[in-house]
Amino acid sequence: MSQVKELVANRKYSLSQDKMPLFNALVNYAKQDVTPFDVPGHKMGSRMNPLKSILGDMALRMDVNSMKELDLLSHPQSVIKEAQDLAAAAFGAKQAYFLVNGTTVGIQAMIMATCKPGDTLLVPRNGHKSVMDGIILSGARPVFIQPEVDYHFGVSHGVSVKNVEKAINENPNAKALLITYPTYFGAMSNLEKICQLAHEQEITVIVDSAHGAHLPFISEDILDPISAGADVVTISMHKTGGSMTQSSILLLQNNRVAPEAIQKNLSLLQSTSANYLLLSSLDVARREMVLYGNERYLRLKPIVERAIIDIESNSRYEVLKSHYLEKHFDQSYDWSKLVIRVNGIGLTGFEVYSILKAEYGIQMELAEGYVVMAVISTSDTESSIRKLVRALKDIEEKYGEKTVLMSTNVTANQVNKLILSPREAFYAEQETVDIYNAVGRISADTLMIYPPGIPLVIPGELISDDAVKQYHYYRQTLGTVLSEAKEANHITVVKENE
Ligand SMILES: Cc1ncc(COP(=O)(O)O)c(C=O)c1O
Repeated sequence: MSQVKELVANRKYSLSQDKMPLFNALVNYAKQDVTPFDVPGHKMGSRMNPLKSILGDMALRMDVNSMKELDLLSHPQSVIKEAQDLAAAAFGAKQAYFLVNGTTVGIQAMIMATCKPGDTLLVPRNGHKSVMDGIILSGARPVFIQPEVDYHFGVSHGVSVKNVEKAINENPNAKALLITYPTYFGAMSNLEKICQLAHEQEITVIVDSAHGAHLPFISEDILDPISAGADVVTISMHKTGGSMTQSSILLLQNNRVAPEAIQKNLSLLQSTSANYLLLSSLDVARREMVLYGNERYLRLKPIVERAIIDIESNSRYEVLKSHYLEKHFDQSYDWSKLVIRVNGIGLTGFEVYSILKAEYGIQMELAEGYVVMAVISTSDTESSIRKLVRALKDIEEKYGEKTVLMSTNVTANQVNKLILSPREAFYAEQETVDIYNAVGRISADTLMIYPPGIPLVIPGELISDDAVKQYHYYRQTLGTVLSEAKEANHITVVKENE
């Protein structure tokens, strides 16, 4: 059992995990009779307006700026430091840094703290947009590792140990290796083994755990990234850890990355006016997870297992499961991601996603060509999960067709050629062209489907025919495709004379 798991299982956390130093300091301040001559200019919500009437008095009284009694995020010395130390202990890390621009800023800072311009970063090609942006900001030279593609569910999973080993052998001087753990769809590569391979070559392991804030608390057989040996990890507490949107935590485990480098890069990237509602929500969420997270997940597990059986019985739906991932991809699975393959009933994931919202008031996390995905968190109940099961059964009965829907574009596994570094392309002279005339041009743009925010094309890559076909597929099937270009169906490319 990992160190953190042991702490959770045996309730060996020190009593101090019951404390919320930052949240309590903020509440105390908000309750004081203060006449504010500092910003924010709403002055603790002194004037009634729609924001105050909906959010309530305390929300605006707690929306204050840094000051002596509330500490400073860039130089934490009192209540923020105490709250960060508690978070570090909760996740088994040496140090924790609170973030107010999501895991996005954590990923950018982790890359910038480990890679200087020209340094090699090994990175899965299905990394999030923030990974590609971190590469642009740092000037790192990316070497892409192809993820495992699942043609049956139409999604990609984590990278295999074999592909990581090959990348390390071919790039022994790489400075860092970035792993997404778990992926958006809940797959987890063998991170322990990967860390061991990377560390043998003195390569720092960075983990994008945007979807893994709950991992230390979910169950004994799921390994969290710190316990697996990662050097530096960012978790979106706001996604599965219970804090407010945009609040994340960067966790530093050992001496491979200097704490000063992390702090310096975070200060460079983050606002000097960090939002205290977000910061204090991290304090509250950490306490809840430590005190109640494990017991809530234990209660949810049989409910989710029952739901999977019911979704699949007498049905052409199929749910992604642990043994499937282990058997076909040698990866483990985070059961709190309910990935339901719906193309068996002749509909795309996008169609089922829209029907669930329009007819049943159910908001799924995302859709892909073949699947819809629900995130199960400790705030779910048997009744919310049963509602989803009933709606899926109803949809199959009402709209289901006999034919299985398949499209080669769902799983197009194109490898775009990288011609310029993402940073060179980002700063090159650019023009905007019709995407259907862009094959063979070098992209200056990130073309991505959102969610999940995984780019089809990144700056510096040659735009391939397959990428354009995939773009077309997503447009037709109602997926949301984003690019930097203002006009629809356009993409920003590097000017030809560059
Ligand atoms: C895999 C992955 N990494 C990073 C991020 C960015 O996280 P955040 O939204 O906390 O900035 C996301 C967001 O969806 C993501 O899916």
